Amino acid sequence: MTLQMRIYVPPHPLIKHWLGVARDAQTPPVLFKSAMTELGRWLTYEAVREWLPTIETTVQTPLADCPATFVNPEVPLVVVPILRAGLALLEGAQTVMPLASIYHLGLVRDEETLEPSCYLNKFPAQFKEQTRVLICDPMLATGGSIMAAMAELTSRGIDPALVRIISVVAAPPALQRLSVTYPGLNVYTATIDEGLNSHGYIVPGLGDAGDRAFGT
Ligand code: URA
Repeated sequence: MTLQMRIYVPPHPLIKHWLGVARDAQTPPVLFKSAMTELGRWLTYEAVREWLPTIETTVQTPLADCPATFVNPEVPLVVVPILRAGLALLEGAQTVMPLASIYHLGLVRDEETLEPSCYLNKFPAQFKEQTRVLICDPMLATGGSIMAAMAELTSRGIDPALVRIISVVAAPPALQRLSVTYPGLNVYTATIDEGLNSHGYIVPGLGDAGDRAFGT
C-alpha cells in the first residue's frame, strides 16, 4: 500500500468568510489578526477530528448514569506555531486545544535564497512517544519553513502520521515537497492557490501574513 499525503480544504462557510477578509488588501491589521484567529480556530476544529485521542467512561447526570467520552489527558498534545506568522493562528488553535503544550519555532526566510534559518527552537531533545503535533503555518509557499519544521520534529521522535498542519493559503511547491518526504501527513488549509511569484509570494495569496497580522 502506498501512502499519500492528505490535503483537506474544509468546505466551511466560516473558513471561506475569514479567508476572504484576510485576502482583502483593504483589511486593517486588527481585523486581519481577528480573521487569522478565526481561521486558526476553525481549521484546528477540522484538523483534530479523528486525531484527538478520547477515552470512554461514565458520568452521573442529575438523573442517571450515562456513557461519556472525554479527550484523553494522558496523550501529549503539542501546538507548534512557526514564528512569526504562525502566532496569528495560535490564539484560535488554543481555544480548541486549551491543554496542549506550545513549542515555539522561529524561522526567518532569506529574501534572496528563500531558504529558512532558525533563530528560536524551544523543542525538547526528545518528544514523548505518541505525541500529537499541530503545526500552525499560515502560508505554505516554497515549503522551506515547513520542511525545516518537520525535520526538527521528526529528528526528536515525532511520527509524521501524528502531525496535522494548518495553513491558510497553500501553494503547489510546498505541498509537493511535503508529500514526497512525508506521505503520511495531513494538511488542512483554507485554500490552495495557483503558485508563487518571483519573490516567493503566493499568488493571489494574501501578502505577507506576518507583516499584516502585526502591522509592521
Ligand atoms: N509568506 C507570506 O507571508 N506570504 C507569502 O505569500 C509567502 C510566504
